[in-house]
Amino acid sequence: MSRIAYVNGRYIRHADAGVSIDDRAFLFADGIYEVIEIFDGKLIDEAGHLARLERSARELRLTLPLAQGVLKLVLRELAARNRVTDGHVYLQVTRGAARRDHFFPKPGTPATFVAFAHRSDRAAAEAKARAGIKVISLPDIRWKRPDIKTTSLLPNVLAKQQAREAGAYEAWLVDADGYVTEGASSNAWIVDGQGALVTHPADSAILSGITRARLFQIAAAQGLALVERPFTLEEAFSAGEAFISGATTLVMPVVAIDGRTIGSGAPGPVSLGLRAAFHDYAPASG
Ligand code: PDD
Repeated sequence: MSRIAYVNGRYIRHADAGVSIDDRAFLFADGIYEVIEIFDGKLIDEAGHLARLERSARELRLTLPLAQGVLKLVLRELAARNRVTDGHVYLQVTRGAARRDHFFPKPGTPATFVAFAHRSDRAAAEAKARAGIKVISLPDIRWKRPDIKTTSLLPNVLAKQQAREAGAYEAWLVDADGYVTEGASSNAWIVDGQGALVTHPADSAILSGITRARLFQIAAAQGLALVERPFTLEEAFSAGEAFISGATTLVMPVVAIDGRTIGSGAPGPVSLGLRAAFHDYAPASG
């Protein structure tokens, strides 16, 4: 079965799908994106992801080329055509194709819309969560608006690769004041000595994760205290537990940071409890 992508109004074989070399995202990373989990054939927390897409579009003065109703149909059609029951759907909107010029293209230039679906291996993800992941820390060298979900991810890509080369899965980014902002592709959390969850406030320094927001609700339901405040690496080293959150990783326990063991060195009960509860709380739409 060949994979099917959606490009500017057409379903097309993934291998044949493409956009112009004049596309603004290719030339300037002038685009936004979302990644939504597909679990049991349903889209998880779709409303939150689409609301964030609209916000990203507003912040970059981009006009979304599809009405939300049509967009939702496309995402479902992609999941169905690619027979993805467990995986993700990726969607990207760019400022369209126009002769290279930093100024915005002339009004009326159509935005580019691309979407595709990926399968993921649920058993492999669960095994990874049982083992826990390693993290390294790196300076947060991103621009000052990482709250916008843009395709401009070069610092994130470099950080992830450096993590991989150090035997880790994620990089925690540290700001000029020594605080952990977030991961290169996830939000960062610790569990403090009192058992409270701590994560950076959703200000302009981090992406306001949809998974993160859902975990606020689950934490409350589980009677866990939660504090939104910046934390340092030193605090993280001595935390009882640490984990990352995101649509591709859900809750993924962190067992080492910069080679230092976190807590017992194994995934902790708070992280695993949040992970186990996630799909009981996150709305699934089919
Ligand atoms: N990344 N912070 C960053 C920098 C991210 O790239 C992501 C997600 C998150 C978590 O957001 P959410 O919970 O809404 O997925 C936080 C996606 C999955 C990606 O780029 O693949």
